Amino acid sequence: MTAIAFHNGTFQAKADIRISPEDRGFLFADGVYEVARAYGGRFFELDAHLARLRDGLAALMIGGAQVEALPAIFAELLTRNALATSDALVYLQITRGAAPRTHFFPDPAVPPTVYAEARAFQPKADPRKGIAVITTPDTRWARCDIKSVALLPNVLANQQARAAGATEAVFVRDGVALEGSSSSFFAIVDGDVRTAPCSNYILPSISRRVTLELCREAGFPHRETPIFLHELPKASEMFMAGTTLEVMPVVAVDGRPVAGGTPGPMATELARRFHARALA
Ligand code: PDD
Repeated sequence: MTAIAFHNGTFQAKADIRISPEDRGFLFADGVYEVARAYGGRFFELDAHLARLRDGLAALMIGGAQVEALPAIFAELLTRNALATSDALVYLQITRGAAPRTHFFPDPAVPPTVYAEARAFQPKADPRKGIAVITTPDTRWARCDIKSVALLPNVLANQQARAAGATEAVFVRDGVALEGSSSSFFAIVDGDVRTAPCSNYILPSISRRVTLELCREAGFPHRETPIFLHELPKASEMFMAGTTLEVMPVVAVDGRPVAGGTPGPMATELARRFHARALA
């Protein structure tokens, strides 16, 4: 079946879409993106993804994108790709548009480039098995709260994890374990579920926020407070959370077993609740 994608107002065969070599996404990574998930054709937390997108566009001063039109576009992408009742991922990218290369914004302004695609999605990782992670120095810029397409440090970190036989890399800045290359990070220390507080150094992850809500529901003590690298050896459990991973127990960090090398009970319960919430 021909994959259909959306580009600047029209749906067309993905293979036929041409993006300009002057696109500022290509030249400067001058844009933002979102990854949203649909379960059985129903989007999970779509409003939250769009709110974060609006914040990112505002932070980068990219105007002219009709964010309010996106829910209908995403639904149409599911339909046109025969995913209307499937588990799917939508990828959206909005850049400042195409214009001769200048470090300042195009003057006069050009329309943004809006690209979106949908594909069937089945997670590769299994919460009953968990994943191994590594820690790595955070070399990213100081606006990690913006979901910018400038992901080179994330790519390098994730590749480093892969080369080490792990699935995710946890960024460490100033001795604090902040978040993964494409997911949030949690550790359970002295019975408290902990994750880094929101700041310019992490993405305001939607799965992170949902997981904290689920902790409240489950009666699990939880705190948004820095997790220091030196505390990891005493963590009883760790897990990642994100749109693609949902809640995913960590069974090893830097080659050392976590929770005895099997998914811990609280992470497992949060994974179960997360999946149930997504299907609800
Ligand atoms: N990544 N932290 C980072 C650095 C991320 O890139 C992501 C998401 C998350 C989790 O955010 P959310 O729960 O809103 O998906 C945390 C997406 C999935 C990606 O880059 O593919």
